[in-house]
Order: sequence, then structure tokens, then C-alpha cells
Amino acid sequence: MEKIAKGAEIELQVDKLAFGGKALAKVDGFVVFLDRAIPGQTVKALITRKKRNYAEARVIETISQSPAYTPALCPHFGVCGGCFWQDIAYEEQLFWKKAHIIECIEHIAGAGQREVGPVIASPELFHYRNKMEFTFSNRRWLLTEELEREVDPQSLFGLGLHVRGLFDKVLNIDTCFLQSCDGSAILREVRKWALASALPAYSVRTHEGYWRFLVIREAKTTGQILLHLITSGTPAPNGGVELLARHLLSKFSRITTFIHSISDKSSQVAVGDSTRVVFGPGYIEEVLGELRFKISAHSFFQTNTRAALKLYETIARLADFDGSEKVWDLYCGTGSIGLYIASRVKSVIGIELIEEAVRDARQNCLINNIGNCTFFGGDLKDVIGKASQTGRPDVVIVDPPRAGMHPKVVKSLLETLPGRIIAVSCNPASLARDAALLLDAYDMGEVQPVDLFPHTPHLECVVRFDRKQISQ
Ligand SMILES: C[S@@+](CC[C@H](N)C(=O)[O-])C[C@H]1O[C@@H](n2cnc3c(N)ncnc32)[C@H](O)[C@@H]1O
Repeated sequence: MEKIAKGAEIELQVDKLAFGGKALAKVDGFVVFLDRAIPGQTVKALITRKKRNYAEARVIETISQSPAYTPALCPHFGVCGGCFWQDIAYEEQLFWKKAHIIECIEHIAGAGQREVGPVIASPELFHYRNKMEFTFSNRRWLLTEELEREVDPQSLFGLGLHVRGLFDKVLNIDTCFLQSCDGSAILREVRKWALASALPAYSVRTHEGYWRFLVIREAKTTGQILLHLITSGTPAPNGGVELLARHLLSKFSRITTFIHSISDKSSQVAVGDSTRVVFGPGYIEEVLGELRFKISAHSFFQTNTRAALKLYETIARLADFDGSEKVWDLYCGTGSIGLYIASRVKSVIGIELIEEAVRDARQNCLINNIGNCTFFGGDLKDVIGKASQTGRPDVVIVDPPRAGMHPKVVKSLLETLPGRIIAVSCNPASLARDAALLLDAYDMGEVQPVDLFPHTPHLECVVRFDRKQISQ
């Protein structure tokens, strides 16, 4: 394709949103991926990369606008990597999310063409997240207009989210429309305090510095906020963290727990090697349906509380319990799915890797007076055998992390052969890959996507599998 060479400027009609979120245009059948564009637009684009089968391009001008365009709300839109579909109408986002699920099921799972119902929409399109993870930086990302001015070295201190596509670059964030207004106000206050402390932010290059991450978790129903500050082990003078906690508590009455973790790991993950509760009970409580859940700093909880309820209703509907079932809830986190369905089944066994989440799951049983659930800790691939000793389950619910199930877990399921499997996943590609392995012994039933992540290409999906009937 001669017209398409690195550095060339070219007019493109944007056709679709591809799996992963990029927009796609074709020039005489040759595929060009655009980082941020909307189907229906005509754009002038600069080719930034040319490969044998495709090219990548950046939009430099919108020649004609798409009917699906909607102005983005966020002042950081376009630079922040957080929610880059924000300028696409929500209906259009859901249309493409559904198309991606169908594509994965057909091409990766090899399950043929399937009817998939409309994506269940998120009840809230903004302020929907109950957990945000912000990173400190000693060399924040500078905007083009800032680069034109002389920059005060002090102002290089940053606290925010990653720049789109650059996971080592942090964009200062003042307001994030994915979290509550209080969440953004806390973020700004922590940055102000940290900057005034004169302690440096952690550097990903030298691995020196103090401030590393701030995680803000808030229960949408009770309003409680948990702050989790992660610093390096560099000693901070004058009980710095206690003073910060006291200052924030005096300003924000919704903060009920403040946790401080220390991490000297070079990997950029917001998890501490050691953790202590500076203030409060060490957890927040969230309400889902009739149930109350305790959530600790390191425990997984679905990040969109109100859409999570839709997800759990979907799981229960697809599982179609009659009350007699023995159920396994695999990758169970704080036990939320198992506890949600507990009153509709005979018993639940939940398995989860993070001990803190297992402890939360057990406490959540007590808090909600649920007596038919048992939770085990451990890596599922090693401990699934322990669950097998309790007999064959009727229904297994699996909700693995993005990478999908470990092959040993799939093998174990294929040996255990429960009557039905309800697969829940936030990654259609790994869901489809796991499905491909299950299809020897199972028929794929209803596929129901649920949107927990508006303005991003991510999607949650629930699929029912029924054990094949062996013909006589
Ligand atoms: C997508 S979350 C699902 C949590 C839960 N089902 C819910 O709805 O809140 C995946 C969970 O799998 C857990 N996990 C990750 N790897 C695991 C492993 N190897 N064995 C067991 N659990 C694991 C994570 O800690 C996390 O809680």
C-alpha cells in the first residue's frame, strides 16, 4: 500500500471501533488503526507506524463529524489514559462492546455465530467508580502549553493517572469524573499536603523518593471512604502520615478509615509490603441488594457498585437455581457473588487467593447471618482439589482476573464436570479462550454482557455453559 507510509498525511473514513478500543479505517482494504477517532468521522490523519498488514495513525484534523460524537466532560480528556471513549455517545459505546463480545465468541471460542442480548447499561455514566488508584510522580507529564513556559522544578511533583499509552508517565489530575466530587477534593488536598511536606515523590528511574500511591475507595451506599496511602520505607519526619490523616479527617467527614502501607518494591503496584491502620476500623462497608459487605484495603470488590448489582442479578438469572444446588464460587474475592446467591441454593464454597479478602468473605457471612457458605484461601490451581473432596458441585461460578482461568483450573473443571458453569469475566478475549476449552464437554448457552466501565472499551460478560448430554 504505497499511499500509506510513515509520516504521510491521509484522509480516512472511520468505520468501526476495534477490540481493545482503537478506531479502525480501511484504505483499499488495508487496515489503519487510529488511537482516538469515532466511527462515522472523516479525518485527516498522520501515519505514525507502518507494518506489513496494518498501519497506525494519529488524527490531526476532523474533516466531518460523526453523529455519535458527544463533547467530553473531563478537562483531562485526550491526555489521560482513564476513559478515552468519553466523546462517543453511550449507545454507540454499547453497540461496539456487544460487537466485540460476538467477535471473540465467534473467532476465539470458535462457538459460531450467536445471538447476544443488548448490553445491560451501567445505571450511572459518571462518578460510578468506588475505587481509584492515583500515582505520585517526581516528573509529571507536562502539557504542550506548559512546555512553552519555563517550568518551576517544584511544579514537576504530580499526583494523578497515567497518560494514555505511557504507563510510566503521570498526568496531574484535579477532577476525575469517574469518582465522586469528594474523591477529587481529597486527591487535590493530598497533593497539596505532599508537595508542602518537601518529601520527594518516588522516582521510577532512581527508585528513590517517598510518596508512591493514593488509593481512594468509597462505598456508594453508606458513603464511607477508605484512604490507602502507599509510601516507600524512607523515614518521614514528625509523624508525617499521622498528621496528614488528621488533617484529612478534619476536612472530609466521610473518611472513616485511613491506611498506610510501605512498599519498597520497584514494580509500580499499589500494594504494600507492610500495612497498618492509622485511623478507623480498617475497612468500609458497602450494601448490595439486601446484603452488607465489609471491604478491606487489599480486597477485590467490583468497582462500579450499582452496575455490580445488575451483574449479580444476571448471574443469578442465568444460573436459574431451584434451591437444591451445591455451588462453587471460584475467584470469589470478598464472597460477594456467593453471598448474593446463598439464599437461593443449598450451599456455597468460595475460593480466593488474597487472605484479606477471604477473611472479609467469612466476616461477610456473619454480618449477613448466612450459614451455608464456606470460604477457602489459596491459589485456585493448587486448592481446587480440596473443594473436589466435598463432592461434585451442581453449579460452578467462575470470575477470574483479566488473564482468565489457569489451565489447571479448566482441567479440574473438566474432570469435576458440574452440571452447569456460569463464567463471568471482564475480558472477552480470555473468556472466549477459556470457553474454547470448555466446549468439548459443555454447550454454550446465553451470553449476557453487562457494562461496568462506561467510557472505556472494557466490558463484563456472563455466559452459561450446560454439560453436554451423553447420548445412549
Ligand atoms: C475479577 S475478581 C472477582 C471477585 C468476585 N467474584 C467479585 O465479584 O467481587 C477476581 C478475583 O480472583 C482473585 N484471584 C486472582 N488470582 C487468583 C488465583 N490464582 N487463585 C484464586 N483467586 C485468585 C483475585 O484476588 C480477585 O479477588
